[in-house]
Amino acid sequence: MRLTINGVGQELDLDIRTSLLDALRDHLALTGTKKGCDHGQCGACTVLINGRRVNSCLTLAVMHEDDEITTIEGLGQPGNLHPMQESFLQHDGFQCGYCTPGQIVSAVGMLDEAKKGWPSHASKDLDGTVSLDNAEISERMSGNICRCSAYPNIVDAIRDVNEKGAA
Ligand code: FES
Ligand code: FES
Repeated sequence: MRLTINGVGQELDLDIRTSLLDALRDHLALTGTKKGCDHGQCGACTVLINGRRVNSCLTLAVMHEDDEITTIEGLGQPGNLHPMQESFLQHDGFQCGYCTPGQIVSAVGMLDEAKKGWPSHASKDLDGTVSLDNAEISERMSGNICRCSAYPNIVDAIRDVNEKGAA
């Protein structure tokens, strides 16, 4: 099969039961995407598929032949960081760092959802205007668990990028 990862076409020979997460990590050596729980509970495996955030442990690689997949490696690289990566550094938005790729990819997808006016459970109204205060950011990032509990700094990092309109 063929997958398009970070704009590059990749040929793979996979068991059809292979999750997208295992295809990335075990077959393409893209180990930035982390395996935390492997069953949709932690968000460490978050990638963007056609711009939308998805838990890659919960979807099969063979379902994505026609999709554009973006992993943390595609957002930024050393020396050319994505604004969200810069902001996590500036705000000290991590401790062990294991959840961090998923947090950053999810945050980028989440800002796009907010920009489109998609409401969350924390939204005060449904008129398409989203004001990303701490409650909104926390709710929208609630699928990404951090066992080091770096949440306050993660929220600060995301709010800063949003206020600067950087991502
Ligand atoms: S590894 Fe996918 S949600 Fe935890
Ligand atoms: S920084 Fe350690 S799990 Fe989040």
